[in-house]
Amino acid sequence: MTRPLLPAHRSLCRLITTTTTTTTTTTTASPLTPTPTLRSFLLASPHSLSFITPAIRTSLLTTTTPFRPRQLSTSTTTMAPVPSSMKAIQIAKNGGLEVLEYKDVPVPALKEGQVLVRNEYAGINFIDTYFRSGLYPAPGFPLTLGREAAGEVVAAHPSVTGLQPGARVVYMANDAGAYAQYSPVSATGVVPIPDGLSTEKAAAVYIQGLTAWTFIREAGQVKPGQWTLVHAAAGGVGLLLVQMLRSVGAKVIGTASTEEKLELARKNGAEWTINSHDDVVAKVKEITGGHGIDVIFDGVGKATFDADLEMIALNGNLISFGNASGAVPPFSILKLGPKNVRLMRPVVNGYVSTREALEKNSSELFELVISGKLDVKIHKVYPLADAKQAQADIESRKTTGKLLLKCN
Ligand SMILES: NC(=O)c1ccc[n+]([C@@H]2O[C@H](COP(=O)([O-])OP(=O)(O)OC[C@H]3O[C@@H](n4cnc5c(N)ncnc54)[C@H](OP(=O)(O)O)[C@@H]3O)[C@@H](O)[C@H]2O)c1
Repeated sequence: MTRPLLPAHRSLCRLITTTTTTTTTTTTASPLTPTPTLRSFLLASPHSLSFITPAIRTSLLTTTTPFRPRQLSTSTTTMAPVPSSMKAIQIAKNGGLEVLEYKDVPVPALKEGQVLVRNEYAGINFIDTYFRSGLYPAPGFPLTLGREAAGEVVAAHPSVTGLQPGARVVYMANDAGAYAQYSPVSATGVVPIPDGLSTEKAAAVYIQGLTAWTFIREAGQVKPGQWTLVHAAAGGVGLLLVQMLRSVGAKVIGTASTEEKLELARKNGAEWTINSHDDVVAKVKEITGGHGIDVIFDGVGKATFDADLEMIALNGNLISFGNASGAVPPFSILKLGPKNVRLMRPVVNGYVSTREALEKNSSELFELVISGKLDVKIHKVYPLADAKQAQADIESRKTTGKLLLKCN
């Protein structure tokens, strides 16, 4: 069935017809400019463009200056064509792995202030499983999972200045829906990847690296010589924490559930390791000569919280930052009194909420990787279609380091 053409469609058709003719014959035609109404329509309804060629579509969506036939010449191949639909991993309801669906969905329209990123790699983070299961409430359904990726900017809303198509970038954004081939992201949350850092490594280190870096310095305020303990020390955040803690001069104890993981934690800077199936509190007492731990980093949550309160040192900082074993249940605040425990439940976003803080922490993180001071261990790169397997693996406790999805 043929749908009636909207006025904007008609105007688009006129523009495309003229443009196509002029580009195939000459490059000296006078400039063609989509009207403001047409431009808004294009940005709000990218699927309406499925009938035009990818090059014209990209130019129409990305141009912020009057549209000129010259922009469609072969010299603009740095701009990847943007299709009208893409592959993505969505959930229509909360549940187990079975609710993850690999689907064809429309490429999202850009809103003011956003750029469209063609995701090359998206990060798997434990938090994605919380949104899938319902531990954290979804903002709505269907929900495209994922909050971090690295790739290339392929389109920018006209309101965006500075960041333009072709830029290699990394981002973390709560609402990005990064388990997808394309994501619309606020330009203020996107950071260029410096030369010397691969797109894969940038995706692999971003959220978990910013988490480890800001939690050590701002939440834990770790000082050289302090006793620190990292739970799940061979995990994504854990492996980065132990390396960074060692580099700031802390004494580092790592816990993990297998000997292989403990070996990896030792290789990455944990001077002491404890198997989490052992009596961790007793071992800590032995290792620290009864002092206890000055700063504990706990992303495991429910299973380890009580032990944390037992092994924390006087005036210690307990940084509880995750729920890998379940959320910490409500408890009496009086439990903090005997040792003057400072308890924090931080979220990384709070430490990079301004552009200045985001740029500062990102560039410090990138520098650590580029200079070789921080090793980024990638457990496995999964095809986007295998996100279900990737989530199964991270939940199974069999992974170490970072899990990535290859989106394009
Ligand atoms: N607050 C924030 O801003 C923030 C930011 C990033 C990450 N996080 C949190 O940091 C934690 C680590 O995240 P990640 O992505 O790097 O994951 P990960 O550490 O690679 O994987 C989770 C690890 O937790 C341990 N674990 C203990 N009990 C578990 C259980 N019952 N089920 C599954 N795993 C269990 C496992 O290590 P062992 O087998 O060695 O025990 C497992 O490998 C998560 O809690 C995450 O939510 C928080």
